[in-house]
Amino acid sequence: MAIRLGDVAPDFTAETTEGPIHFHEWLGDGWGVLFSHPKDYTPVCTTELGRVAALKGEFEKRGCKVAGLSVDPLEDHRGWAGDIEETQGTALNFPLIADPDRKVSDLYDMIHPNANDTLTVRSVFVIGPDKKVKLTITYPASTGRNFDEILRVIDSLQLTAKHQVATPVDWRSGDDVIIVPALSNEEARQKFPGGWNELKPYLRVVKQPG
Ligand code: BEZ
Repeated sequence: MAIRLGDVAPDFTAETTEGPIHFHEWLGDGWGVLFSHPKDYTPVCTTELGRVAALKGEFEKRGCKVAGLSVDPLEDHRGWAGDIEETQGTALNFPLIADPDRKVSDLYDMIHPNANDTLTVRSVFVIGPDKKVKLTITYPASTGRNFDEILRVIDSLQLTAKHQVATPVDWRSGDDVIIVPALSNEEARQKFPGGWNELKPYLRVVKQPG
């Protein structure tokens, strides 16, 4: 069944390039990103894994762990890891889940049979400290993802969780944000004593808190 926002991310155990993981235990109290790859030894996936390895520090700054998944077995992942380091200049530095029996892919609905009945699509799940799914994105196999965008969404999700603000179109960290409609003006005055710019009663713009 498809996983929807607000669902608890399904727990699982799996073999990875960094040893076996129990997913919920591995996530701990922090944020997590789980993303799938159609297949080992494929070009777009190779570039994506190198990019995520290069961005690991950015994920860590946000208290966020990352795990990739591909339906191929661990021996293939290990061989492919050498190619990733050689061609992308960064070694794999996060767990890549081996899922040859498609246990995790099925659990997360990562195989879309009308696109391809054996390979996973490029799924992304961002999971919050409460283990609930905060973001899902699905890309086709032929399009490499933009992991700067994933980081941008994590920044937005973390701001919302902490400060009851939402982020407008094309927002980047540091830009002004929007006070969530659920907050009355009275409540907003407590949270934002410096005030805000009220373009409409439902559109209240404020400096990014924190
Ligand atoms: C790739 O990673 O390059 C790829 C994988 C499956 C289908 C198409 C492209």
